Amino acid sequence: MTWSNVPRYLVTVGQSLWFFLPAYVANATPVVLGGGTPMDLGRNFLDGRRILGDGKTFRGVILAIAAGTLIGALQLRPLIGFVMALGAMLGDLAVSFIKRRLGMERGAPLPVGDQLDFVAGAIALTGLVVSIPLSYIVAIVIVTPPIHLGTNALAYILKLKKKPW
Ligand code: CTP
Ligand code: MG
Repeated sequence: MTWSNVPRYLVTVGQSLWFFLPAYVANATPVVLGGGTPMDLGRNFLDGRRILGDGKTFRGVILAIAAGTLIGALQLRPLIGFVMALGAMLGDLAVSFIKRRLGMERGAPLPVGDQLDFVAGAIALTGLVVSIPLSYIVAIVIVTPPIHLGTNALAYILKLKKKPW
């Protein structure tokens, strides 16, 4: 089997996963290494609910950005790795903020939001630094939800995550 036998769309999916690898690694890192002091320091927003909740910690964000930057460095583009990981974390935090405003407890499922928060943040911030092929964006938005659901189910089975989503 040679590369010319691989369907074009699968090549694009593979290139897109490689491009967004720092975001994927950043998003997965807090599940394994996160915890500790929550970023909102336990405080409530104007609506009387938590600003972000106990699931968003300093350690999670810092180690996620470090891991994403490391992956970027291994890909010979540390700055893109850093920006992408930062964007992934901002997307994750933004959706937790929205979930709390909707009255959803930490860990409550928000379909699409939970799966694509980090990708949307990564695209938005990385797009400011480098142009991303539209085909990569389309590919990652399509393949991420099933991959995310699969890896989260695995993390639940391995007792890394409290909820299977
Ligand atoms: N985590 C962390 N710090 C972060 C993000 C995540 O420590 N900045 C850890 C937390 O233990 C969190 C787990 O990774 O519970 C899974 O992350 P996620 O699914 O994003 O959080 P949820 O607990 O589902 O919280 P939310 O409802 O706010 O999405
Ligand atoms: Mg969640």
